[in-house]
Amino acid sequence: MKNILVTGGAGFIGSHLVRLLVSKYPNYQIINLDLLTYAGNLENLVEVQNKSNYHFVKGDICDHELVKEVFQKYQVDTVIHLAAESHVDRSIKDPFSFAKTNVLGTLSLLQGAKQVWGNNLNNKLFYHISTDEVYGTLGKSGFFTENTSYDPHSPYSASKASSDHFVRSFYDTYNLPIIISNCSNNYGSHQFPEKLIPLFIKNICNNKPLPVYGKGENVRDWLFVNDHARAIDVIFHKGKIGETYNIGGFNEWKNIDLIKVIIKTVDKLLGRPEGASEELITFVTDRAGHDYRYAIDSSKLKNELGWEPSLQFEEGIEKTVKWYLENKDWVDNVTSGNYQKYYQEMYGSQGD
Ligand code: NAD
Ligand code: DAU
Repeated sequence: MKNILVTGGAGFIGSHLVRLLVSKYPNYQIINLDLLTYAGNLENLVEVQNKSNYHFVKGDICDHELVKEVFQKYQVDTVIHLAAESHVDRSIKDPFSFAKTNVLGTLSLLQGAKQVWGNNLNNKLFYHISTDEVYGTLGKSGFFTENTSYDPHSPYSASKASSDHFVRSFYDTYNLPIIISNCSNNYGSHQFPEKLIPLFIKNICNNKPLPVYGKGENVRDWLFVNDHARAIDVIFHKGKIGETYNIGGFNEWKNIDLIKVIIKTVDKLLGRPEGASEELITFVTDRAGHDYRYAIDSSKLKNELGWEPSLQFEEGIEKTVKWYLENKDWVDNVTSGNYQKYYQEMYGSQGD
């Protein structure tokens, strides 16, 4: 029996994790605390919404009284903390909201755990989900390991780095049982179409320009989101208290090459001539502070806990494109309203 508080469970990765935990562990109670910002969507959870081991609480992780109430009401013994502002471009426009949610929100949860759990720390766990972006950027070679020094460059990564430091400080100072994992770029279904892959799939379908930052030469290490959820499950059950685990796919792609794969896949599935949509590629001003390359060494996770990615990228990207093509209503629903305003501000007339 476990009573697991998942924060941010209505978002992209959180909803994959909640669906996994609710169906795989009928004896666990899964409590999803989510504010339902523009990035959170209960449609992502229809499969589990009526399950007796699933509970939804709409609320802000920064609301410390609410956090304590949730801990007490559901006798929470495990926190898997995903709630965050997660988009780098938004953090460049509005760093404050990133500091608030990612730093103060994490602190509010840590304090809640500390106050409600007190000295009774047996079988308790505060598991914090973080990102490889805290390590900064790599040159053409090398990998991020768990020992790489933190060197964040965007307000987003700075806020995540800060939250990681707070989590570790609660272990060192109060013995709060914590684990942190730092993952590379995720892709898959249910990702908000402001991030590269779903945004470009949407724009190709609608024959809109594909805004490639700089020369498209930046490199990211892509992991299928279900494999991240599997890794979280493994780390939560088998990880060692106080440790950090890197999660990645050993799957590096230069943006422009990845974009061509997306174009090829969408064109094929839409019955367009191969590469027809390449004319939509539009090179735009680079992202400020744009990290050149991320690449994760996840061998600790493989060697110590036995996790490996399950899916080849070619299969994952095809599944992903199919999902977005078959779920146009989902895309339309999440991108109406405020999102239109955001897109106009970010990309101006290219979004029309
Ligand atoms: P997302 O933006 O899709 O979802 C974030 C969720 O958090 C949403 O459901 C939102 O409503 C909720 N939320 C935001 N502010 C909140 C608040 N104040 N209180 C309660 N809920 C709030 O994010 P994601 O891509 O699923 O990322 C989840 C976590 O994983 C984040 O912590 C992110 O830093 C980390 N991460 C993401 C990636 C990636 O590639 N997407 C990779 C590594 C790590
Ligand atoms: O590495 C993990 C991180 O991956 C997570 O912590 C973040 O939450 C997640 O958003 C993601 O960050 P990135 O900035 O790498 O992802 P994004 O999809 O925004 O961009 C991927 C790459 O594509 C990056 O080099 C910027 C580029 N890009 C992005 C967009 C949205 C473009 O060229 N054009 C675009 O329109």
